[in-house]
Amino acid sequence: MLRVAVLISGTGSNLRALLEATSDPAYPARVVVVGADRDAPGLAHAEDFGLPSFTVPFTSYASRAEWGDALAEQLAVFEPDLVVLSGLMRLLPPAVVARFAPRIINTHPAFLPEFPGAHGVRDALAAGVDATGASVIVVDDGIDSGPILAQERVPVLPGDDEHALHERIKPVERRLLIDVVRRYATGELPAEASTLS
Ligand code: GRF
Repeated sequence: MLRVAVLISGTGSNLRALLEATSDPAYPARVVVVGADRDAPGLAHAEDFGLPSFTVPFTSYASRAEWGDALAEQLAVFEPDLVVLSGLMRLLPPAVVARFAPRIINTHPAFLPEFPGAHGVRDALAAGVDATGASVIVVDDGIDSGPILAQERVPVLPGDDEHALHERIKPVERRLLIDVVRRYATGELPAEASTLS
């Protein structure tokens, strides 16, 4: 059974979808801990599912490196086989990426390498494209630049604002994430990821 740690910063709706998927006894992965860089609303999902959680507040540390070390120590306690960034709005320091890669993945609401970074949905709208997407990638030291494990196009519709478009993207992200986690659990990944990187 694959042990999955999930890191969030926000509402955790993608986390919630993964938690619901892991409720299926046939699904070969379990979330063992939920972590956050702030008092994220999504931590309530861990409580709903009776899971441990931790918060490593970014603002409590003198540097990103020290924050990252504290985060990695908390994660290591739960011995995750896979770390999932699902709405974590912080760049991880290289030492943390090195410690877990390629068993650390991120969901992103765009068709990478299009529109990387913290505002992928807003940037796609601003660019006036008629399709954007969702991607699941292996985290590397860059910004949403790691090997792509799964991605799918999502249409931009006339009248879309950032919220409407993001809410159309998220269900696709969730489906891709649940499938990628399954592929780690079955051993199909990260073999491909290592050839991709
Ligand atoms: C997701 O679209 C994720 O890809 C992006 O932030 C959003 C988080 O949404 N980084 P939620 O917190 O899972 O609702």
